[in-house]
Parts: sequence; C-alpha cells; structure tokens
Amino acid sequence: MSVETAAASAYLVAALLFILALAGLSRHETAKSGNLFGIAGMVVALVATVALAIDRNIQGVGLGLMVAAVVVGAAIGLQRARVVQMTGMPELIALLHSFVGLAAVLVGWNGYLGVERDLNGGEAQALRSAQTLGIHHAEVFIGVFIGAVTFTGSIVAYLKLSARINSKPLVLPGKNYLNLGALVLFAALTIWFCISPQLWLIIAVTLVALLLGVHLVASIGGGDMPVVVSMLNSYSGWAAAASGFLLENDLLIITGALVGSSGAYLSYIMCKAMNRSFVSVIGGGFGIEAGPAADKDYGEHREMSAEQVAEVLESARSVVITPGYGMAVAQAQYGVAELTRSLRDRGVEVRFGIHPVAGRLPGHMNVLLAEAKVPYDIVLEMDEINDDLADTDVVLVIGANDTVNPAAADDPTSPIAGMPVLRVWEAGQVIIFKRSMASGYAGVQNPLFFRENSAMLFGDAKDRVQDILSALPSPVGQR
Ligand code: TAP
Repeated sequence: MSVETAAASAYLVAALLFILALAGLSRHETAKSGNLFGIAGMVVALVATVALAIDRNIQGVGLGLMVAAVVVGAAIGLQRARVVQMTGMPELIALLHSFVGLAAVLVGWNGYLGVERDLNGGEAQALRSAQTLGIHHAEVFIGVFIGAVTFTGSIVAYLKLSARINSKPLVLPGKNYLNLGALVLFAALTIWFCISPQLWLIIAVTLVALLLGVHLVASIGGGDMPVVVSMLNSYSGWAAAASGFLLENDLLIITGALVGSSGAYLSYIMCKAMNRSFVSVIGGGFGIEAGPAADKDYGEHREMSAEQVAEVLESARSVVITPGYGMAVAQAQYGVAELTRSLRDRGVEVRFGIHPVAGRLPGHMNVLLAEAKVPYDIVLEMDEINDDLADTDVVLVIGANDTVNPAAADDPTSPIAGMPVLRVWEAGQVIIFKRSMASGYAGVQNPLFFRENSAMLFGDAKDRVQDILSALPSPVGQR
C-alpha cells in the first residue's frame, strides 16, 4: 500500500474519531471518552500528515521546520491549558479561533502566490485547465475572506471577553449598510478575481474582511457575546474547510465542516434560548437598536449577615441555588456543594437552577458543580425550574446578575429585554451573594437587588458560603 493510500485511510479513521469525540462531548457521562477520541483522532491525523510530507519529498529544513512548529505549538498549548482558569476559557478559545483565521488567510495567499509563480514559469496551463484555475481562484478568495473575518472578529471578541475593551455594542451610523456593503463588495471582487486575478484584488478583499470582522463583533453587545463566541467557532471551521479545499486535504475539509456546522447549530440553539434572532446576531446585531442602559433609581437595598442567612436557611423547606459567573471567580463551588449536603442532611430540599448563559462559557456552571460532586439530578435547567420558583422558600443567587435580572422580562427598553431569565424574585426570599452593587457582564442595573423580598450578602462568595457553614449548627442527631 502506498503512503498516499495509507494516509487517506488514516484521515478517514481520524474523521470518524472526531465525530465520536463530538458525540461523546455532548453528555456529562461520556465527555471524558469524547475527549480521548478527539486526542486519538488528532494524533492519527498528525502522524499521517508528517508521513505524507516525507513521502512528498519534504525533508531537511522543511521537515525540521514542520516538527519544530508541532513541538513549539504543543508546548505552548499544554502550558496554556494547564494554567488557564475556567473563567478565562472563552477568551482563550476566541484567541485560538483567531489563529485558525490567520492560518486560513496565509494558506489562501500562499495558494494565490504559488499559482502565480507557476504561471510565470509557464507551467500553469499544463497544471490546470482554465476552468479548474477559476475554481482555485474562487477558493483562494473565499478562504482569505472567511479567514480574515474570523481573525479580526476573534481578536475583538478576545479583547471584549478579557475586559481589555468595553463590551458595549459599537453603534456606527448605518452599521447594517456597512456590513451589507462589505458583503456586496466581496461578491463583486470575487467575480472580478475569478475572471482576472490580480494582486491588488486579494489585498483589497483581505482589508475589507479584516474591517468587517472588527465591525461585526464590535457591534454586538455584552449579553450576546456567548453567541458570538460560538459563531466565531463556526466561522473558524468554515475557514479551515476552505483551507482544506486549497490544500486538497480531505481531513481538513471534513473537520472544518464538523466545526463549522456544530458551531452554527450551537449559535442557533443559544439564540433560541436567549430569545435572540439568529440572523440578527450573525449579522452583527442587524436590526437591534438597543437603548443605552439607563441608571434608574430603584430605592434602597437591604443587607443580611451570614449568620442571618444561616437562620433563614435552617427554617426553609425548599432552597434553590442559582449560580453565576461570580461563583466561578470565587471558586465557591466546593463550599456550595458542602452547603448543599449540609442542608439536605437537615431535610431541606435543595436544587440548582442553571441559566443557559450563566458564567462565561456554555455549560460553565454544570462543569463546576460536577467538579464539586453535586449530584446531577438536582441540577436543573432554567426551563425545568422556573415554574417551581414561586413555591420555593429561599433562592440563593451566588455571583449571578444578568441571568436573574427582572428588567429582561419587565422593561422593554432594557438592552437585555426579551432574554429569558431565572424568575428568582417569585420566591419567598432571595439572597444575593456579591461583593458590591456593581452591574453584571451586560453592564445593566439589576432591580432585583431592590425588591422587598431581596437581601444582599456582600463579600467574596467563597468566604460568605464558609461563614454560613460555620454559623449553621450541626444537624439534629449529630449534635
Ligand atoms: P454576570 O452578569 O456576569 O454577573 C456576575 C456577578 O458576579 C457580578 O455582578 C459580580 O458582582 C459577581 N462577582 C464577581 N466576582 C465575585 C466574587 N468573587 N464573589 C461574589 N460575587 C462575585 O453573571 P451571570 O448572571 O452568570 O451572567 C453571565 C453573563 O455573561 C451574561 O450577560 C452572558 O450573556 C455573558 N456571557 C456568557 C457567556 C456564556 S457562554 N455563558 C460567554 C460570554 C459572556 P460584584 O463585582 O459586585 O461582586
């Protein structure tokens, strides 16, 4: 069997392993095996690619450079994966997407310059018919365009997610026409390039796409950023698939299509969960004219001490905990798990209500609670718990803010209007754990904090949970 055939078979095996990885990652119980399938697929793909390169006479310096790139990349990747905080994952993912975008741009440029070189050498006609040359040019152009949009879009997403720039939406006059204009220009340039490929055209499309990437993501507001991350994930997949066509690499085409379509589907279900229009979000906030977050006066808030909260919890029959980003920052999940055990030992019914975009990445809260060994069966989705909140004695809002904001339901002028939220205010008593009266990720004030049945427990969530645990007397029978 030739190396080419062996590599093609290995690519097929790797593609199947990637599909198994995606299937495994979709459930808690199978997530670990899903990860292992992914790693195995990547190892098979890398070995096959190196073997193929050697077979195609890439030796000496070329091979050395390739091995060095793999080693350096793997070392940086391992180090980043080891030190990254869970709360920093979305920004790391956004940065990684930008690399895929940049790689697609470089592959596209290389594809163009390579063919130009062959043309100048007079070999192109021998290499390709005029028709396949046209297809090649279209691949180059589309690959560069998707790659450049992904590159700058992901960098802006990274800057917003890491709070290096303001997460408020950028509203340029006629922003929708700017996006539409860029797309029309791209279509026109593509036709021009296919008929008469010239260097300035590829420079022009690169610049248009780089600017469009910045504008698309900058125009999207804080609350919609989760969808942007999964959308960029999808774009990076299509960029990789476009590179796959250029490099005539089947595995890259399959993997790119898997990432592209699963990212698009995730964006779609997130939009549905957040009551956002999919077209509007992928169009850079198309049709959304969100008003500024008004600083209304909601009156005075009340405060409680950890000892008072312990008393309230002791006499409660049912408690719902709604965690958010602050629980992740404080790493309070272990204390929260211990509090859950302690309350359940006293006969209190404890459940968790998880908002689809709580925290900073899909499933963020579920991962933290699973890590702290909170049983899966008491961790419920927002839709599963919302109707029970009116019959709940106490809700503990631990480091959550936007996901429990009643303005989303009551105030049509709010920038997060229409986003479904956990209706915690319907419970008998709501206790909010946070360090100050500051707003959440979307930068919107939260009237929940000023409601009659709400009280603030200020301080780091981990410390306050420990204080409550210390204040709770041992359950009856253990005294
Ligand atoms: P947020 O609205 O971000 O609010 C978190 C709150 O936690 C803050 O108000 C903060 O208040 C508090 N906090 C921070 N550190 C704390 C600590 N050590 N101890 C106690 N409290 C602490 O959280 P959320 O309700 O989870 O909503 C998530 C937001 O992020 C949504 O707007 C969502 O759209 C966005 N987002 C989500 C994702 C995904 S995929 N989940 C990705 C990107 C963006 P203090 O500063 O006063 O303590």
